[in-house]
Amino acid sequence: MESLYNYPAVYEALLAPDEEDKREVMRWCADHLDGPLKRVMDPACGPGTWLLPFARKGCFVAGNDLSQGMVDRAKRVLDGYPHLLVQGDMRALCMGDEHYDVTLNLDASIGHLPDHDAVLQHLQSVRTHTRPGGLYIVGLMVLDGEGLDTQKESLFVCSMTAIPTGGYASVAYASRWRDKTNKREQIEVLVSTEGVEGCPETIHEYYELLTFPSEDLRALVVASGWELEAVYSMEAPRHPKIELAPSCGDVTLILKNPDEAVG
Ligand SMILES: C[S@@+](CC[C@H](N)C(=O)[O-])C[C@H]1O[C@@H](n2cnc3c(N)ncnc32)[C@H](O)[C@@H]1O
Repeated sequence: MESLYNYPAVYEALLAPDEEDKREVMRWCADHLDGPLKRVMDPACGPGTWLLPFARKGCFVAGNDLSQGMVDRAKRVLDGYPHLLVQGDMRALCMGDEHYDVTLNLDASIGHLPDHDAVLQHLQSVRTHTRPGGLYIVGLMVLDGEGLDTQKESLFVCSMTAIPTGGYASVAYASRWRDKTNKREQIEVLVSTEGVEGCPETIHEYYELLTFPSEDLRALVVASGWELEAVYSMEAPRHPKIELAPSCGDVTLILKNPDEAVG
C-alpha cells in the first residue's frame, strides 16, 4: 500500500513542527534536564524535522529510522550540521558509544511497534544510550477500558503547502477507531498533491498504532528502568502538565534516566 512515509520530502514539508511546538519542547528540556543539552537523538527520525531545531542550536544530533528513504532525506536536511544517521529498528539502536542528553520521539511513532514487548525492548535500548539524568521525551496515546470506539476524530490538517523538491501537497490525519480491548487505534491519512514529481496525486492510507492503558504504561516505564518525571496533555491548548490517569489521551511523557551506571 502507498504510504506518505515513502515520500520523505512531502512528509517533511507537511509535518515539520511549528515555532510554538519547538519552543514547547525546548522548554521541557530546560525544565527537566539535569546538566547540559549537547547531544540529541530521535529513534524514528523520519526526515529529521525534530532534529533540525536542535542542530541549529549547536547540538550534535543523531537519528535512526527503519526507512532508508527517510534516512537519506534526513542526511540532506541535516547537511552541514554535526550528525549521525543510521537505518535500523528502534528496538535495537546502534547510535555510537557516547550517551545522549535527550532523546525525542514525538508524533506517536512508538505506536508503530508491534506490541508492548517490543515497546519494552525499545525503552531499554533508548536508556542504554542515555546518560544519567538524561531524558526521553515520548508521545503516545493512553486509553483504558474495553470495547471499540468507532467515532472518527480529526487529528491534524495541513492545507496546500510548497514541497522543497517542487509542487504542492496537503494532508489530513484522522483516528478511525480506537479498540481499547486490543490496545490499538486505526489512523487514516489522506494526502493530495499537485506537481510533485514521482508522487501520486492521492495517497489514501490506513495504519494501526498501539495505545497504552495507564497501568500498562507505568509497568513498562518501571520495567525498563526509567523514572516518570512528568506528563503533558497534548489534548488541551498550551499542553498542561497532568497526572498519568486512566484514558488521559494523547500525552507526551518526560522520562528520566535515574541511574549512576548506564545500561
Ligand atoms: C511519524 S514519523 C516520525 C517523524 C520524525 N520523528 C520527525 O521528526 O519528523 C514515524 C517514523 O517511524 C519510522 N518507523 C516505523 N517503525 C519503526 C521502527 N520499528 N524503527 C525505527 N523507525 C520506525 C517510520 O519509517 C517513520 O519515518
